[in-house]
Amino acid sequence: MSVPSEVDAVQLRGIGKRFPGVVANHDVDVTIRPGTVHALIGENGAGKSTLMKILYGVQRPDDGTITIEGKQVVLKSPTEAIEAGVGMVFQHFMLADNLTVLENMVLGAEKLHGIGDGARTEIRRISERFGFDLDPDVLVEKLGVAARQRLEIAKVLYRGARIIILDEPTAVLVPQEVDALFENLRELKAAGNSVLFISHKLDEVLAIADDITVMRRGTTVGTADPATATKHELAELMVGSELPSPETEESTVTDTVQLSLSDVTLTDEFGRNLLTDLSLTIRRGEVLGIAGVEGNGQAELVETIMGMRIPTSGRIMLGDQDVTHWHTRQLREAGIGYIPEDRHRHGLLLDAPLWENRILGHQTRPPSSKGMWINRKGARKDTERIVADYDVRAPGIDTPSRALSGGNQQKLIVGREMSGDPVLLIASHPTRGVDVGAQAAIWDHIKRARRNGLAVLLVSADLDELIGLSDTIQVILRGRFVGTFDPSSVTPQDLGTAMTGGAA
Ligand SMILES: Nc1ncnc2c1ncn2[C@@H]1O[C@H](COP(=O)(O)OP(=O)(O)OP(=O)(O)O)[C@@H](O)[C@H]1O
Ligand SMILES: [Mg+2]
Repeated sequence: MSVPSEVDAVQLRGIGKRFPGVVANHDVDVTIRPGTVHALIGENGAGKSTLMKILYGVQRPDDGTITIEGKQVVLKSPTEAIEAGVGMVFQHFMLADNLTVLENMVLGAEKLHGIGDGARTEIRRISERFGFDLDPDVLVEKLGVAARQRLEIAKVLYRGARIIILDEPTAVLVPQEVDALFENLRELKAAGNSVLFISHKLDEVLAIADDITVMRRGTTVGTADPATATKHELAELMVGSELPSPETEESTVTDTVQLSLSDVTLTDEFGRNLLTDLSLTIRRGEVLGIAGVEGNGQAELVETIMGMRIPTSGRIMLGDQDVTHWHTRQLREAGIGYIPEDRHRHGLLLDAPLWENRILGHQTRPPSSKGMWINRKGARKDTERIVADYDVRAPGIDTPSRALSGGNQQKLIVGREMSGDPVLLIASHPTRGVDVGAQAAIWDHIKRARRNGLAVLLVSADLDELIGLSDTIQVILRGRFVGTFDPSSVTPQDLGTAMTGGAA
């Protein structure tokens, strides 16, 4: 190896990490140059998050060495990692909603710049330097997803990090927000910081990365040059297969209306409208896509349909039944599958084994129950089926779901919600965090079910997915539908414009 002209930001050498029944990392070698964006890619369960947790002191490696800016270190906690210059932003943000930007920023770092004007000045400096657009005195609950993410990045910079780990930061962003984040990352680079960027979206990787490291089955299998590599080559390196794309198929839309909403309005406790006069119909065999910038009512729409909120006015019909006031359990028993937006809060019991998670939300129906009783054997057997059909990588069905990689948790939820032949599927970001191979498999499952008459409400931030799977796309903006589009002719740019209020 040649002698580098400047000291590497990070050198990981021979890193190994074992969990019961799994080798999460072995013989991992990664070199991060200073002032670069370094992408880490690989299929679900390849070991990316584990490696980053090791670099951030959350996990202790069993083997190998970590060298930061020329100095070999042993990191026993995130505090020690931050002292060494490494910060990490997790996918599930760790912010207190009822506190201000400033309060969140200084929490646990009071010694650095105090809690008053010194802190305020430093926050303004960071915000301006990197284009974060953060007002220190705004409550975090007022911030959208993208602003919260910028706050998380600002938080680690405030603590002095020069090496910033972002684990799938763009999974929760729409295209315009991704562009804005990339601008921020360029500024970070320009100031000499290094960014470690994990993503399953290969276009993004090619757009932002200076270096790419590929992981497969726990180890680093190679690097790729973003200047010359193609998406196909990256996909091949990652999953060893061709790159899939969601292809629009022949329409299977029937005349039978499965779900209809008429003038549904939802008002919060202050009398503000979260949803205004929403009407839609989804027929058997039809996929209705909902496009929107996160936070424009799509979560409320889904929760209203799923009986977690009761509309203030308007009517919801499932087939020919008025279900406006039904509870979630009744709706599920009537045959609605539900893939929630937040898999940790609404989709999984993290400490329960996979087979118990199979029962969650399905406890009153076979194969999870038999008469009034939980059918352990039935649930276990069906979990084995889901694990096989959806390629959920896990040591076994007795593994707690917490031990699964993010993408594998998502595959388990999709498999569960597609089981028992639902009549209607309410899917929020069904392929968020899953690798390109698994994404294609999930699309195939949804398409097959659609051919057999499944009606689907698809909320997704992935515009290619929306265009590829939907029969019709509605754009939601500030709780109203502001445009209907035909996926066979619409472009992601058209949708983006409508989503940000640029089209009538
Ligand atoms: N705390 C844990 N206990 C047991 N096994 C774990 C734990 N954390 C991770 N694993 C296992 O280690 C392997 C690597 O997981 P990791 O989360 O690093 O994958 P990943 O590359 O980040 O995948 P994804 O793209 O799905 O997020 C997986 O087999 C996972 O099940
Ligand atoms: Mg991960």
